[in-house]
Amino acid sequence: MPTLKILTVFGTRPEAIKMAPVVKELRRYPEEFNCQVAVTAQHREMLDQVLKLFKIEPDYDLNIMQPGQKLEDITTRALNGLSEVFRLSKPDMVLVHGDTTTTFVAALAAFYQQIPIGHVEAGLRTGDRYAPFPEEINRRLAGVLADLHFAPTNTARSNLLKEAIPEKNIYVTGNTVIDALKATVKDDYNFKIPELKGVDFAKQRIILVTAHRRENWGEPLEEIFTALRDLVEIYPDVSVVFPVHYNPKIRQLAADILGKMDRVFLIDPLDYQPFVNLMARSYIVMTDSGGLQEEAPSLGKPVLVLREVTERPEAVRAGTVRLVGTNYKNIQKSVKELLEDKPIYDSMAHAVNPYGDGNASRRIREAISHYFGLTIARPEDFAAK
Ligand code: UD1
Ligand code: UDP
Repeated sequence: MPTLKILTVFGTRPEAIKMAPVVKELRRYPEEFNCQVAVTAQHREMLDQVLKLFKIEPDYDLNIMQPGQKLEDITTRALNGLSEVFRLSKPDMVLVHGDTTTTFVAALAAFYQQIPIGHVEAGLRTGDRYAPFPEEINRRLAGVLADLHFAPTNTARSNLLKEAIPEKNIYVTGNTVIDALKATVKDDYNFKIPELKGVDFAKQRIILVTAHRRENWGEPLEEIFTALRDLVEIYPDVSVVFPVHYNPKIRQLAADILGKMDRVFLIDPLDYQPFVNLMARSYIVMTDSGGLQEEAPSLGKPVLVLREVTERPEAVRAGTVRLVGTNYKNIQKSVKELLEDKPIYDSMAHAVNPYGDGNASRRIREAISHYFGLTIARPEDFAAK
C-alpha cells in the first residue's frame, strides 16, 4: 500500500497550535502517511511563533497577510493560492482546522478539486450566524464541504447529526488543544517573561486578558477595557496582564484606555509556552478567545467569557466558565464576586477536562486510516470523565 499524502492547511495562531500535534502524530508513521504542511499565513508573526516552537517548516507558505486585511482579501488571496498548492501537491486528503477564513477557503478549494476533506474541531455551534462572526458560518460551511468530521466532544457530534451529517463520518476525538497543552505546560518551567519584571506574582492576583473577536471591535471592547481600568483602581492587589493581539484596531484602543495605568501590563503576544505557563499562574482569565475557554478549565482557572454566546458549553456546564458578555456593569459584578467571595471563586477554580484527554491526534490518525480502509476497527470515541 503506498503512503497516503495528507496535506494539512492552516493560517492563524490557534489553528497552528491545534494542528501541530496532528502533524507530529502523522509524521510518526512515515510508512503510512506523507504529511505536508501548507500555511496561508493569514497571520504572520503570530503563526511563526507557533511554527518555531513546534519546529514545523511549511512545505508551502502563501504569505497572504496584509495589515488591516478585510475578509474578502483573505478569502480571495487564500483561494487562489491554495488552489495552486493543491494542483502541485495532489494530496489524498486535505485537513483543515476549526473556523477561520483559511479553514473555510481551504475546504472550498479542496472541494473544487474533489479532494477528500477532513475537518478537525468539527461541529462547534452557537446557533447565531453573527456570533462569533464570521466563524459560526465558516465552520458550518466547512462542515458542509467536509467528508470526515473530527468532533472534539459529544455535543459537537450531536450538532453535526442534527445537520444530517452521516454518523459513520463523525469521529469523537477530543480536542487537539489538550494534546498541545499537555506537551507544553511543565511544572518545572523556568518562568521568565522580561516584560513582566514589575509584577509581584507572590502578592498580586493576576487577571489574564485576551480579546480580539470582530464582533467586539469598537464599543464592546471600550466597555471591557473601561471596566478593567476601574477594577484595577479599586483593588490594589490586582494586576492585569494583557498580551495584545497584533490587530492595530485592538492595540490602539487598549493603549488609549489602559496604556497609562499602573498594574496593567499591555504586552506583545507571548509565545505559546510562556503564555500557558502564565495562565497557570493567573487568578482569573477574561477572554473572548475560543482556545482559552478550553485550556483554562484544564488548568483549574475560572474563566469569564467576554461574549454573549459560546460554542463551547461543556465547561460552562462544569461550572468553571461563565458567560459575562461585554457590558461594563456585568463585567464589574462578576470580577468583584470572584475577587471577594472565596467560596464562589473555589467553586469555579477546579480542573476539569471536558475537551480532551491528550489523545485526540492519535484518534484522528486512526480515523484517517479507518476511512481509507487501512484498518478495520474504528478508533474508540473520546469520552469526558
Ligand atoms: C483571525 C480569525 C479568527 C481567529 C483569530 C485568532 C478570521 C476571519 N478570523 O482573526 O477566527 O479566532 O484569527 O487569533 O479568520 N496581525 C498582524 N500579525 C499577526 C496577526 C495579525 O499584524 O501575526 C494583524 C494584521 O493587521 C491583520 C489583523 O491583525 O490584518 C487581523 O488579522 P485577521 O487574521 O484578519 O483577523 P483576526 O482578528 O486575527
Ligand atoms: N495564545 C498564545 N499567546 C498569547 C495569547 C494566546 O500563544 O499571547 C494562545 C492560547 O494559549 C490559545 C490560542 O493562542 O491556544 C488562542 O488563540 P486566539 O485567542 O488568537 O484565537 P481563538 O482561540 O479565539 O480562535
